[in-house]
Amino acid sequence: MTQGFSGGSIIWHKSHVVKVAAGPEQNEKVAQEIVRIQYMARKFKFLFEVPTILRSYVNKRGALCYEMGRVNVPRLEDILPNMGYKDVMSVAAKLSDIINQFSANNSPNDQSENEDTFIRRKLCRACEYVNDYNWPKADEYSKMVRLINLKPTREPTFSHGDMAMDNILYDGTKITLIDPLCQGFENFHWDAAKLMQSALCHWKEIRTTSAITPAHHTQLYFAEAVLDKIECCKRRLVLYLATTLARIIPYCHTSIQQFRLLSMAVTLLKQYLTGTPLKPIGLLM
Ligand SMILES: Nc1ncnc2c1ncn2[C@@H]1O[C@H](COP(=O)(O)OP(=O)(O)O)[C@@H](O)[C@H]1O
Ligand SMILES: [Mg+2]
Repeated sequence: MTQGFSGGSIIWHKSHVVKVAAGPEQNEKVAQEIVRIQYMARKFKFLFEVPTILRSYVNKRGALCYEMGRVNVPRLEDILPNMGYKDVMSVAAKLSDIINQFSANNSPNDQSENEDTFIRRKLCRACEYVNDYNWPKADEYSKMVRLINLKPTREPTFSHGDMAMDNILYDGTKITLIDPLCQGFENFHWDAAKLMQSALCHWKEIRTTSAITPAHHTQLYFAEAVLDKIECCKRRLVLYLATTLARIIPYCHTSIQQFRLLSMAVTLLKQYLTGTPLKPIGLLM
């Protein structure tokens, strides 16, 4: 059994895996995950795969579980650093294509927020963590967050919801997406931003260690390629990228990791608020 990052657990079998909700209070979240996987299987079967859901049930502790086919393929986050230039470009193009297709589809869930409340809720969460340090950048960040006012707001679209590289399995040709997440507001800009964020900030490192390695050039050109190929409002993407970088500040193990994320978020928010075009990604690091 593996303890999942989101509090649940994964039980490994030879041909299938069972994902177990952290507790009955997480059942709704897992139920939505199942709906979303089945929706993706129907809507996007020509673009990518999702694990086959075999059955779902409630265990003795009242936690919702679902059994799915085991995909014996590595995670993109584990293989990307050792991939060659052409392969990196190819997977970035495939993922961008997927996200571009999301933009033309609706969400299977009702939205509980609009874009403005969603973005500001996520941005504000970081303020709770960084204000304690008395960093001038934290002050600058909080001031900029207060200036964000998304009117008019965008319409929701389909979104995977957690399109980080640890939720992308890749066999060199075929992409399998796992672990979707239902958000209060859904738009494909979130997936593009999350994908870039997981490459740029070494999400794996932040999740599991107190290390702070600069992004490898492979991650940089992967993020650049995604940015280049996504058909979206680039200014909005800058805001979403700032938001998703700031959103992971609570998961950091050290204040240095937090400070690096905060610095990137501040640079991006400044670009968003002044309307200047996004600088080369490498300059953010
Ligand atoms: N169907 C599957 N086949 C193979 N590996 C899987 C499958 N589902 C999950 N995993 C592995 O388990 C890890 C955690 O599962 P995930 O659904 O992403 O849960 P968490 O909410 O903990 O991120 C994934 O990163 C992946 O490596
Ligand atoms: Mg996951």
